[in-house]
Amino acid sequence: ARVVVLISGTGSNMAALMEAAKDPGYGAEIVAVGTDREGTRGVEVARAAGVPTFVVPFRSFSDRSAWDTAMSDRIAEHEPDLVVSAGFMRILGPAVIGRHQAVNIHPALLPSFPGAHAVRDALAHGVRITGTTIHFLDEGVDSGPIIDQVAVPVEDGDDESSLHERIKVVERRMLVDTVGRLAREGWSIDGRHVRFGRTDM
Ligand code: GRF
Repeated sequence: ARVVVLISGTGSNMAALMEAAKDPGYGAEIVAVGTDREGTRGVEVARAAGVPTFVVPFRSFSDRSAWDTAMSDRIAEHEPDLVVSAGFMRILGPAVIGRHQAVNIHPALLPSFPGAHAVRDALAHGVRITGTTIHFLDEGVDSGPIIDQVAVPVEDGDDESSLHERIKVVERRMLVDTVGRLAREGWSIDGRHVRFGRTDM
């Protein structure tokens, strides 16, 4: 399966996918990495590995919908079977969602703590267990059908950065497992429920 990865920062989840995809049996090939920000570490890592990259800076467009359309077009050039939003910090709109099947990885147990500050919000709420969720994108914010979740306990003395780092260790494994399975087995979505395996085979 052809996979386009979208990132906005470090790209450690993207790097884990690229590593897994070196094995031809993995089933997913990272055909391009896209970003809304020039000069991030993740994009440098992708370029160094010879993966095609594209940048669609938000501020270069007059409004959100023009940006969303440009993003959708750039993604489409790579003809992906699946788009993976892995640390991509902007909300993708109808032009992308309507044209591409996309999953997102989120550092909390959805539907708790959606949004850009999930780890901080979970800590502030005082939860003892948080974690990570991989889900299909829909038109809402972190609201689409859930594919998998893994729990991560909050430890005494955790701050946002220590907790986020422990979540990211778990996220990378979950992302690699889930994207590989989606790529190898296909999937179907029935309402809020995701099933592995193709229904048309
Ligand atoms: C991850 O925790 C992801 O869930 C969140 O942003 C972080 C990205 O980390 N949306 P990285 O860029 O993959 O290192």
